[in-house]
Amino acid sequence: MSNRKTVDISKEEIQEQKEYIDNIKELIKGRSLKYHIITYGCQMNIHDSEKLAGMLNSMGYTETSDQAEADLILFNTCCVRENAEHRVYGNVGALYLNKQQNPNLIIGICGCMMQQRDVSDYITKKFPFVDLIFGTHNLHRFPKLLLEAMDSRQTVVEVLDEEGRIVENVPIIRNLGVTAWTTIMYGCDNFCSYCIVPYVRGRERSRQPSDILDEINQLAEEGYKEVTLLGQNVNSYGKDFNEPYYFSNLLRYIDRVDGIERIRFMTSHPKDLSKDLILAMAESEKVCEHLHLPIQSGSNRILKQMNRGYSRENYLELVNEIRHQIPNIAITTDIIVGFPGETEEDFADTLDMVEKVRYDSAFTFIYSQRTGTPAAKMSKQIDENIKKERLQKLMDVQGKISKEINDKAHDTIVDVLVEGLSKKRDDMYTGRTPQNKLVNFAADHNTIGNIVKVKITQPKTWTLEGIMI
Ligand code: SAH
Ligand code: SF4
Ligand code: F3S
Repeated sequence: MSNRKTVDISKEEIQEQKEYIDNIKELIKGRSLKYHIITYGCQMNIHDSEKLAGMLNSMGYTETSDQAEADLILFNTCCVRENAEHRVYGNVGALYLNKQQNPNLIIGICGCMMQQRDVSDYITKKFPFVDLIFGTHNLHRFPKLLLEAMDSRQTVVEVLDEEGRIVENVPIIRNLGVTAWTTIMYGCDNFCSYCIVPYVRGRERSRQPSDILDEINQLAEEGYKEVTLLGQNVNSYGKDFNEPYYFSNLLRYIDRVDGIERIRFMTSHPKDLSKDLILAMAESEKVCEHLHLPIQSGSNRILKQMNRGYSRENYLELVNEIRHQIPNIAITTDIIVGFPGETEEDFADTLDMVEKVRYDSAFTFIYSQRTGTPAAKMSKQIDENIKKERLQKLMDVQGKISKEINDKAHDTIVDVLVEGLSKKRDDMYTGRTPQNKLVNFAADHNTIGNIVKVKITQPKTWTLEGIMI
C-alpha cells in the first residue's frame, strides 16, 4: 500500500528491545514482582500505558491495582492543562516515604509532561528519588531504560526531541474485554494557538493501513467487538504518505473486518472533515452514529485567534450536512472558555452555537496557559473567576440540552453493546448505544460482549437506564 515518507524503525532496534525484555525476565525470575501504572490525559496516553503494560508483562511483571504493593510505579503524564501537571507533582512527591521504606521500589515518569525539557529537569531536581524519566517519542525503548534504571543509583533520563519513526509490534496488554483502542496516527500538525500537544507529540505520522488492518483482524480474533481508532486529528490520516490515502478509505476497509461489530474514531478536526468521510460513515455498516467534533469556541474572532481554520458558519454547514446524511447521529464536542481576550460577546456566541447545534454532550474546559504556545503570550488573559463563571453557565446550558435529548429516548428501544457489570450497581449491566450513550440496565442473564435490545425506562442527564427486552 502507500509509502510513508519517513522510514519505519529498524527491525534491529525492535529485536534489541526484545533482548532487554529477556534480560530483565532473567533478572527478576522467581521474584513475582508487580507493577502499577497511573495514567493521566487522553485515550492516546491510556493506549500508551497498554503498551507499557504489554512490555512489563513480557518481562514477567504482573499488574496490581494496589499502589502500596507495587515494586514498580509508573506515571504516564499529561500536560494539556495545568491541573493535570499539578496532580502529578503531588502524587510523585507523596511517594518519597514509600521509597524510603522500600529502596527497591522503582519509580518512573513518562508521557507528554516529560517532553517539556524544563519540566523533566525540574522533576529530576525536585524528586531525586525518581529512578526513570522518559518521553513519548521513545516509549519503545522502555525495556532498555528500565534495565539501566535497575542498575543505576541516579535518575536515568532519556527524552528525545525528534519524534522519529513509528514503532510496530510493541506488545500490548489491553484490558480484556469487548472494546479496544488502536492508534492510527501519531502527533499533530495543527498548532491551535492554545495547545501543547503538537510540541510534545511531534509531527503527524500515520501508520500503514496494512499494519492497522492486521491489528484489527487480530483484535477480532481475540474476541473484541468494537474498535476505536485514535489520532489527534484522524481526518488528516494518510496526508504524510507519498501517494494520497484518505481516512475514509481506511474506514471502508475496516468496515469489512469480520467479527468487529462497531467502529468509532476520535478526534475529528472540523476543518479536515471531508464529504467523502461523511459518505463513508453513512454507507458503512459498522461505523457508529457518533461524531466527536470539537468546536472550541463559537466566536469567529476567537476561532481565528485559536488558529482553528474554520468559522461558525462553516461548522454549522458541516453539522447540517452530517445530520442530513446520518439523521440519528449524536454529535459531541470540546469547548474552551476564557481564551485570552474572550469578551462577554464572544462567550455569548459560544452559548449561541451550543443552542444551535444542540450537542448530545460536551467536554468543557477552562483555558489553561501553556508555556511555549502562542496563546500563552497573548495579552488580555482572562480573570480566573470570570472563567469559572463562564464554565458554570456553559455547563448549565449544555446539561439542560443533554437532558432534553436523553428524555426523548424514554420508552425507546436501543441497541447496546454490553461491556460489563455496571460500576455503580453490580446487579446491572453496562454498555453503550451506537450514539455512545452509556446505558445501565437490568438483565436476567450475562450478555457481556453481545449487542442487546434495551428499553429505556429512566433517562438521566449523562446516562440512560433501562431493562433488557
Ligand atoms: N486533538 C484533539 C484533542 C486534543 S486535547 C482535538 O483537537 O480535538 C483535548 C481538548 O483539550 C481539546 O479539544 C481542547 O478543548 C482542550 N484543550 C487543549 N489545550 C487546552 C488549554 N490550553 N486549555 C484548556 N483546554 C485545552
Ligand atoms: Fe491540539 Fe489542535 Fe492538535 Fe487538537 S488539533 S491536538 S487541539 S493542536
Ligand atoms: Fe494530554 Fe498528551 Fe493526550 S498532553 S491530552 S496525554 S496527547
